[in-house]
Amino acid sequence: MWYQEHVSLYGWTSFRVPTTAAYGAICSHPEELPYVHKLLPLREHPVVVLGNGSNILFATDYPGIVLRPLFRGIHLLEYDEDTVQVEVAAGEPWHEFVYTCLRNGWYGLENLALIPGTVGAAPVHNIGAYGVEVSQFLEGVRVWDFTTEQLCWLPAEELLLRYRSSILRETLLGKVLVTHVRFRLYRRARPKVDYPELARFLSDSGIAYPTAEDVFRAVCAIRRCKLPDPAHIPNAGSFFKNPVLPLSVAEELRQRHPALPTFPHGSDTVKIPAGWLLEQCGWKGKRIGNVGVWQHHALVIVNYGAATGEEILRFAELLWRSVYDRFGITLEPEVLILPREAWNPSSR
Ligand code: EPU
Repeated sequence: MWYQEHVSLYGWTSFRVPTTAAYGAICSHPEELPYVHKLLPLREHPVVVLGNGSNILFATDYPGIVLRPLFRGIHLLEYDEDTVQVEVAAGEPWHEFVYTCLRNGWYGLENLALIPGTVGAAPVHNIGAYGVEVSQFLEGVRVWDFTTEQLCWLPAEELLLRYRSSILRETLLGKVLVTHVRFRLYRRARPKVDYPELARFLSDSGIAYPTAEDVFRAVCAIRRCKLPDPAHIPNAGSFFKNPVLPLSVAEELRQRHPALPTFPHGSDTVKIPAGWLLEQCGWKGKRIGNVGVWQHHALVIVNYGAATGEEILRFAELLWRSVYDRFGITLEPEVLILPREAWNPSSR
């Protein structure tokens, strides 16, 4: 285990902002976790667990402990005729895990290719893309409980997995650390290609009966085209969630904005693409100082190199305000903003 006081978080998050944490620690093995309690002032300070920091914005310096588990390992636990059960350590890079699954003939996660971050963070945010959410394949997680100083098992049913949300991101945030994630995957590919952009890409490529490998390649190609690579252009993917509105409200909006796209979500609600709302407000490709909106996708805020967390936050508030003023819709951040009280755009 490595730890240090007053740690720079610059290289620890994909937004690459020059914030610091009062303490930073890195654990390479779950057996080191009891030492975190011995060596760091956990009772006096808040804790946040980071994977690759690809979905977080530290708006200010963090007065607590930032802990990174780098645990590695992928274990096949059991299999039957149709499925396999796999347990994966939290620090495994997500995309590499998806690729390993494909090579081993464990199917289901292809649509989630190229999502940055670690396996441990996947259930926290219930990552999703191109018609699939990780919740569909989760059996549960093993966590270290900072209060009891014990490992315990949380089955998927207890995780309250919803669109980009879970109990791990809400009430259990800073209270537990995910050490392992257990998945149940298919042994026969069942390519899911109903997401319109994915279907279009495959059909334009002349692929009528896509394999899981085709889906994996298509998703990688679409993402590379639309989304900035955080390794080169600091960003945290979609900054806001897509708002979910009752059908009646969406219908009323469509009267005023006939081009409004909608995606089905449950029986009496629809999802509105926040990217469309922001593009209508003129934000696509716009830049103010060190911060801007990605030229190929209006839902992605990028740091052009020297932005502070505070600057990104203020910029996001401008986006929020313009959507609110034009459409009456309250956007909710998809990126986890810390400290939580920093996000309060309606007060400005
Ligand atoms: N759109 C625009 N202008 C834009 C961007 C999008 O009009 O600049 C509209 C288009 O109508 C487009 C629709 O938004 O058809 C949907 O766009 P896209 O397929 O890119 O998906 P998204 O809704 O913007 C969500 C996830 C992404 C995920 C994609 C694909 C959220 C918050 N984001 O984005 O996840 O990759 O769907 O499934 O749900 C992430 O979480 O960081 C992320 C990138």
